Amino acid sequence: MRTENAPVVRLEDYRPTDYLIDTVKLDVRLHPTATRVTAELALRPNPKGTPGAALTLDGDELRLVSARLDGVALGAAAYAVTPSSLVLHAPPQRPFTLTLETELDPSANTKLMGLYRSSGIYCTQCEAEGFRRITYFLDRPDVLSVYTTRIEADREEAPLLLGNGNPVERGEVPGTGRHYALWHDPFPKPCYLFALVGGRLDKVSQTYVTGSGRAVEIAIHVEAGKGERATYALDALARSMRWDEKVFGREYDLDVFNVVAVSDFNMGAMENKGLNIFNDKYVLASAEKATDADYANIEAIIAHEYFHNWTGNRITCRDWFQLCLKEGLTVFRDQEFSSDERSRPVKRIADVRTLRAQQFAEDAGPLAHPVRPAQYREINNFYTATVYEKGAEVIRMLKTLIGAEAFRRGMDLYFERCDGTAATVEDFIACFAEASGRDLSQFFTWYEQAGTPTVTASSHYDPAARTYRLDLAQRTPPTPGQAEKRPVVIPVALGLVGESGRELPLKAGNEVPLANGVLTLDGPALSVTFTDVPERPVPSLLRGFSAPVRLEMDLADEDLFVLFRHDRDPFNQWQAAQTVATRVILEATRAARAGQAISVDARLGEALAHFLDSRAEADHAFAAQVLALPTEADMAREIGGDVDPDAVFTGRLAVKRALGAALADRLAALYGRLASRGAYSPDAASAGRRALRHAALDLLAAGDAARGTELAVAQFAAADNMTDRFGALAVLAHLPGAARETALADFAGRFHDDPLVLDKWFALQATIPEAGTLDRVRELTRHPAFSMGNPNRVRSLVGSFAMGNATQFNRADGAGYDFLADVVIALDPKNPQVAARLLTAFRTWRMLEPGRRAKAEAALKRVAGTPGLSPDVSDISGRSLA
Ligand code: ARG
Ligand code: ZN
Repeated sequence: MRTENAPVVRLEDYRPTDYLIDTVKLDVRLHPTATRVTAELALRPNPKGTPGAALTLDGDELRLVSARLDGVALGAAAYAVTPSSLVLHAPPQRPFTLTLETELDPSANTKLMGLYRSSGIYCTQCEAEGFRRITYFLDRPDVLSVYTTRIEADREEAPLLLGNGNPVERGEVPGTGRHYALWHDPFPKPCYLFALVGGRLDKVSQTYVTGSGRAVEIAIHVEAGKGERATYALDALARSMRWDEKVFGREYDLDVFNVVAVSDFNMGAMENKGLNIFNDKYVLASAEKATDADYANIEAIIAHEYFHNWTGNRITCRDWFQLCLKEGLTVFRDQEFSSDERSRPVKRIADVRTLRAQQFAEDAGPLAHPVRPAQYREINNFYTATVYEKGAEVIRMLKTLIGAEAFRRGMDLYFERCDGTAATVEDFIACFAEASGRDLSQFFTWYEQAGTPTVTASSHYDPAARTYRLDLAQRTPPTPGQAEKRPVVIPVALGLVGESGRELPLKAGNEVPLANGVLTLDGPALSVTFTDVPERPVPSLLRGFSAPVRLEMDLADEDLFVLFRHDRDPFNQWQAAQTVATRVILEATRAARAGQAISVDARLGEALAHFLDSRAEADHAFAAQVLALPTEADMAREIGGDVDPDAVFTGRLAVKRALGAALADRLAALYGRLASRGAYSPDAASAGRRALRHAALDLLAAGDAARGTELAVAQFAAADNMTDRFGALAVLAHLPGAARETALADFAGRFHDDPLVLDKWFALQATIPEAGTLDRVRELTRHPAFSMGNPNRVRSLVGSFAMGNATQFNRADGAGYDFLADVVIALDPKNPQVAARLLTAFRTWRMLEPGRRAKAEAALKRVAGTPGLSPDVSDISGRSLA
């Protein structure tokens, strides 16, 4: 067992291993409680290591059965076994073979790391450090080996046996009722990419022919009877493969590609070589059971894991500090894929919403860390929005700065030069410096410095000289361990918009480099004077959200309305409307906090009315984004400190009600006009139509609860797909009364046997912003479909409450915090990863008003003081309180 006082691992301490493992031959005899693993490791001293050093292999919860060196049993004096290692005191200083036999219990594996059983299916999760729970090994990403795996199991229990690479052979074990399959993966890989699956599963498959004519059998395996629900994922996989060939020139490299969906999984999915393992939530979809958002997630995550085959597997990470090398880059790639498959501007808006909600929140609190952290205690706590989402933003900025062509050349160079290696972020950036001829040393700061930079902008127009001066400045607030901050390289994509909406010419008068409408702010400040500006412009800054920064500029509301109406950049149209809405909600929140009457500025409603009349039909998905107000969490971040979540809720709701009332007729007309016709299709245009229809209903219901209830009840009853049914239920969730409870009961009855659908039902109830919700959540923890052992159930109920219910998690009496602390303490011994993730709900606790802050701190301290905590939870509680 690992201990609470896990040591700090530092990037600066990296050194290569003393031994290498060239090949691994595994023989895995699956058994529900006593699985036997024989590992034959071909080792040799690493020329880069220390000659004569002892060999320390990692291990966790293993029972060593036997150990042989070059076929001869090891004497007791030759090695030592500890709870976390097997040490060979004096290994031969030549190539040698170590054969280790271990036993483990997959059924007792509740951490869901290593080899475990999920609903009777044997599966594995080895990233980051799970392989050591299968056999003793050098469990780190810079040890690359060629694997041959023999998997044996009872034929009845596990007719399907899958491994990495290509299938070699299968057969019976005579007289035992058992059979085996032999797999060989020719590509050297780190052990975190190892996987195997054994079980009784249904499959959907097709033949995919790569650009160069190689036939690949692509297959998705799901729980018996659910094959039909995997066809969308299979299609998304084929589209991803084609896209990577077209856009990045990358082909698939094995004869088969298997995806397996399991119902107990700590994260979203895993890119094991040739054998991706997925949380079934991100595979299974049908019109009746999945929403449009589910379909979009499935498409994105299928693509993400597939894209890892090149960015992660063919080129992997030297150490876990380089996690963003594969994750940030692969998120960038999946975002680009979804943008090409769907609507680019709408995808951008959705991604920026996520970035701000997750990454900006993380960056503003005690868990802030750089995209490439310099130290960690528990690596599983660094699969974060910063590594993934900000990591993707850094790649996007790189592309903006050097241009699309140099970016593609840099990627080609990276694939060529680093293929087959365990690389660093430095190796990656060097390819782009070379391809573009640019010095990217300052750009590298984005990887090393935590915190969200704030860019402030001010400007002056001189009508006589027809010049327009723009002054930009940047600063980054201090973050834990980084008091002083350097300026970063910020690409500011911009345009100047005339009063009537025309795009004004962009001519920089002074020596400031301006390329393709992008200014580079790389010092503390920058002044640009634009010449030949025919009228007072409204600046449209950070178009397309060209950098992950906060922008502060005192534009008049009227100027924001100009951008909302006319900006040629759809992102900034949307941003302008959001900025006005933020201002209006801030004022309402202030009034609510002060106990004053709330009055809502009518101009926002007028601008939205104009938008609905003139542009809503042009792009439904975009219009839905415009109608969605900033969330309570967005507002809390905007306020920044001394936050009273009740005042935010009251202020925001008042604005929503006022808009709903002011726009009632238009919203009702829109709602009627957009009614779905024909059979459900998950395509982007149809999904956009439904999204706008639900946004209209949501706003309408805020303005007129009776009318909203009536429409939602009708929609709920008539729905022939989950998007419509759940959309109606989500509106009803905010309308207390019998109609809501009836619909909730109906939904539970209808989908009682489908855990993934019930997750939506758990989540929705957990986010009801009413005083009774905590009791409701407590009650639901006793529901027969709920289980603390299943990560999806826990995240749906407890995670949604803690992360998605600002007023009830942050109850003034502290009961929400106490509940979360109780769950974390109870869950930690069983599943530390999920427990630690839940605990990050406290990441913004210091922004709260003093009363709640004290209660949150007390709850965190209670967690931190619990004896025997996992390194996962101890790390999060410790850093949260520091
Ligand atoms: N590499 C996976 C992905 O992003 C994530 C796996 C993380 N698992 C973990 N236990 N930390 O695609
Ligand atoms: Zn990933």
